[in-house]
Amino acid sequence: MNFKKNKLFVEKVNSLKIVKKYGTPTYCYSISRLKKNISNFQKNFSTINPLVCFSVKSNSNLQILKEIKKTGMGADVVSKGEMLQALKAGISPKKIVFSGVGKKTEELKYAIEKKILLINAESESEIFEIERLAKIKKEIVNVGIRLNPNIDAKTLNKISTGKREDKFGLTEKAFLKTLNNFKNSNFVKVKCLSVHIGSQITDYKPYLKMINELDRIIKKSNHFFEYIDLGGGMGIQYEKKTKLFNYKKYNSIIKNFLKKHKVKIIFEPGRAIIANSAVLFTQIIYIKNTDKKKFIILDAAMNDFMRPALYGSFHNIIPLLKKNKKSKKVHDFVGPVCETTDRFLSLKGFQNLKEKEFLAISDVGAYGMSLSSNYNLRPKPSEIMVNKKSMKLILKRQKLINFI
Ligand SMILES: Cc1ncc(COP(=O)(O)O)c(C=O)c1O
Repeated sequence: MNFKKNKLFVEKVNSLKIVKKYGTPTYCYSISRLKKNISNFQKNFSTINPLVCFSVKSNSNLQILKEIKKTGMGADVVSKGEMLQALKAGISPKKIVFSGVGKKTEELKYAIEKKILLINAESESEIFEIERLAKIKKEIVNVGIRLNPNIDAKTLNKISTGKREDKFGLTEKAFLKTLNNFKNSNFVKVKCLSVHIGSQITDYKPYLKMINELDRIIKKSNHFFEYIDLGGGMGIQYEKKTKLFNYKKYNSIIKNFLKKHKVKIIFEPGRAIIANSAVLFTQIIYIKNTDKKKFIILDAAMNDFMRPALYGSFHNIIPLLKKNKKSKKVHDFVGPVCETTDRFLSLKGFQNLKEKEFLAISDVGAYGMSLSSNYNLRPKPSEIMVNKKSMKLILKRQKLINFI
């Protein structure tokens, strides 16, 4: 996204042209940004040659997944639906890992049938269920066991996943016991140790702690893991004040680890790949003035983009037409949904705005459309993809008739 003569462009397309053609709210992705993110990620870890499995929960649009597939990435899925979508995009089952604390029997059956790379189990009961299904099929199923390393990822509490009180994975004691119980199974092969301590992590130190814990626990387990799945979680710069994640440092920590453990590394990034490749275009419906502030009522709401309401997360808002005149009043950018939390941002010093003007909510590519809902019986937005001068509809706006 960039301004040319005060007009916001996505690659080489004027944003105004996009909103006029596709309406609002509309998610708009830049394909070159996406490709750049992927190649940067791959370059950052090129010396350790990992398998990078895109976290489909962060964005499950089929066309996006097809683009991701072209780069050789695999997929990290958390449901049968996501598995189907990844396979539909052409991603090889041999590059699919299946995570999640509550996989149902039908989902496990499907994963076994498709012979995916790994089912990353999160409880002993789950592995018993996998073993039962594998026995019926007379197959050997490759699994990972997710460790809960009890590490604070120093991120928002609501997106922390690696502390003892979080529901994910197995604590060290349970992990070692489970591993021991399945060491000699005829139907389940424990090939992987998986871990994911949280999301939007901007400091490398929690990862350093995590790797040190892995080193210690692997030695203690006396088990050979073919894969170590380090999950995702690398943060992005939603706000200028956020420091950039130090990939160099993380890479060198992993390199040191690999000197002691001859394993294949798997990553499951979502946010780092897709978050900053998209904006959500929206139009101002009304402006309501009060003594203290102005409510800028948008046609996008928390059902279209839930992160600010769900996590209190920051997403900048930018105008499609830049003007110099600034308002002194606080602007509250809100949606039309009947919830007080249906608020995107509160800002002072925004440029003067008028009803019917268009705006863009930034960095919405991850956990944007994939978290959208029909709350208040509102149809889900459309999605479009920009590639240099061209734009393409990649998901039609939902029609009321399709869900009412
Ligand atoms: C198991 C697992 N892997 C990968 C991810 C992707 O995380 P991120 O988008 O922060 O990279 C998540 C998200 O929470 C997750 O739970």
